[in-house]
Amino acid sequence: VQNGLGRTPQMGWSSWNHFGCNINEMTIRTTVDALSSTGLAKAGYNYVNIDDCWANNQRTKEGYMAADPNKFPSGIKAIADYVHSKGLKLGLYSSAGTRTCSNTMPGSLGYEDIDAKTFASWGADYLKYDNCFRDGSTETVRFPRMASSLRKTGRPIFYSICEWGMMKVATWGSRYGNSWRTAGDIKDTWDSMLSNIDSNDEYAGYARPGGWNDPDMLEVGNGGMSNGEYVVHVSLWAIAKAPLIIGCDIRIISKETLEILSNPEVIAINQDRLGVQGKKVRKYDGEIEVWAGPLSQQRTAVLLLNRGATGSRPITAAWGDIGVGPSVAVEARDVWKHETAPGRFTGGLTADVAPHSCKLFVLTPVVRQR
Ligand code: DGJ
Repeated sequence: VQNGLGRTPQMGWSSWNHFGCNINEMTIRTTVDALSSTGLAKAGYNYVNIDDCWANNQRTKEGYMAADPNKFPSGIKAIADYVHSKGLKLGLYSSAGTRTCSNTMPGSLGYEDIDAKTFASWGADYLKYDNCFRDGSTETVRFPRMASSLRKTGRPIFYSICEWGMMKVATWGSRYGNSWRTAGDIKDTWDSMLSNIDSNDEYAGYARPGGWNDPDMLEVGNGGMSNGEYVVHVSLWAIAKAPLIIGCDIRIISKETLEILSNPEVIAINQDRLGVQGKKVRKYDGEIEVWAGPLSQQRTAVLLLNRGATGSRPITAAWGDIGVGPSVAVEARDVWKHETAPGRFTGGLTADVAPHSCKLFVLTPVVRQR
């Protein structure tokens, strides 16, 4: 939606993938500190998103949502102030139903205006809006309603639609949201990660500055995949212009995880101002894929992916597949190696790719000297 927000995919952290309902104000405050001390905030991860389970089980007598006094004794406004004092932004969560998915807090159905106002008054900058405990009415009514309530607050609030891609959400959600989930919940496994990005790929044409397809939050650092597999996870999310929302405990982040998440060249692909979602352009068999998408300044991002579990495979990105003119010569920058390959390439680029891994390149046309 064109509300001035999400000109590039959102970046940040969310409590859900690692902590689930096990959150409190110390978890959030110490995470805010870690975002600064690790350099992740500087790298662009600026939204601090509290997911499900932050609110009191019941509304107040007057009908307001309130923070759970055991988990957030200082209240949400105090957290928002702390987040803002570090130059970051605060995200909150609710559901387009009578309860949220955890069933520990009320949902906003029927309370859209009052809740949007409450969130805005606390200083929320982002709302993730889930899809549990819905009544009979459809997604295409319940999600737009919150969009208009948020707009009425007058505060710019990034609107993250979490409908799980059931009603082909991209086809209507792009009119209301700054992002919309295109799949169910990611799990910290290779298969789940690939399945989510594959579903997401079907809607590539709907992504643009202002609104993005969301294959769900990152599992990098949660331990279910190898570091090589997490590199694939981030590479796919980067080229697909997916939200980069960290989902691990960054207070105890390892050096390797930090490197995977904060590679500036990879982030630059995701945040490129052209804002065109890269997609799967070629499948050689069940295992080998080429993904590509245009970047600003005539450049092209290319990902060579080996989904297979055994054996290195040579993979070719042919110019005809990736949208580069037949006679164009390019320089190829390997953004994980931080190395520009020697020489120039015309017609195609081939590299060996190990099992469960990928190579990610930025191709820059070489201007011919006369
Ligand atoms: C379902 C969503 O898809 C998840 O990302 C998370 O927000 C949970 N609900 C919270 O209950």
